[in-house]
Amino acid sequence: MVNQASHDTNGADMAAGYQLIEVKPVTGSFGAEIIGADLGRDVSPELHAEINRALLNHGVIFFRDQDITPAQHVAFAKLFGKLDVHPFIPNLEGYPEIIALGGKPPGESSYARNANVWHTDLSYRQDPPIIAILHGLEIPDSGGDTMFADLCAAYDGLSDTMKAMLDGLVAVHSITQTKRTDELSSIKELKQLVWSLENVPPAEHPLICTHPESGRKILYINQHFTAYLKDMQEHESKALLEMLKKHTNLPEYQCRFRWQKNSVAMWDNRRTQHYAVADYDKIRRMHRITVCGPQPR
Ligand SMILES: [Fe+2]
Repeated sequence: MVNQASHDTNGADMAAGYQLIEVKPVTGSFGAEIIGADLGRDVSPELHAEINRALLNHGVIFFRDQDITPAQHVAFAKLFGKLDVHPFIPNLEGYPEIIALGGKPPGESSYARNANVWHTDLSYRQDPPIIAILHGLEIPDSGGDTMFADLCAAYDGLSDTMKAMLDGLVAVHSITQTKRTDELSSIKELKQLVWSLENVPPAEHPLICTHPESGRKILYINQHFTAYLKDMQEHESKALLEMLKKHTNLPEYQCRFRWQKNSVAMWDNRRTQHYAVADYDKIRRMHRITVCGPQPR
């Protein structure tokens, strides 16, 4: 039996009193579709405030039919803070803040291979982005959904005994965690790994963070980048992380988004992890922008 999240997002929404948008939750606890916002137009301060509140309340929000240009995508993202530039994924020509994902058949795409694992974008950095905004440009007729998991609900679902045990622990997040043994069998691959480590060394984050805006606690781990728990024996760290990673995968903490051309997904990267389902054989192209923010604490 899963402990239910104590946070009532529907109640929070009623209190939020949206005037300009309709906010339709997509599950009992997490994720919402936003109706009535045109992200390509000048977004008023009032509309921006309502979108920000919906993001805070629901963790991930979805928009349909947003036929936006890269410049409009950038302008919208800038409302939420300074934009991030990815440390090594090439950016879109003329737009250093945008990374173009996909564009090759899934079998040839390193993005498709690396995104179908639960992860929080760039958690291996000291300062992972706080928000991501993904615009769907070319979407397969079927497949290619994105799944999201709520790490606040995952924290709420732990027993009080476990919460007390985890409090104060530190997790190390590393890009090396993403490598499979068969990807480290050549000098070229090992050199690439050394380059990654030199440019993006592992980052230490509290295992339990507090969301700076909502004050909610977050079980800040993900399958792809959380390598080990500091100051523990390897088998202790391994067993604990395995249990916690499995815990965050419970369907009660998840929602799943079916993409269409010009859909936009916007997630709070501080409290979520996501998984791009690699069950398609056609091109799937997206533009992503991420917003900088303070370190997880
Ligand atoms: Fe991602």
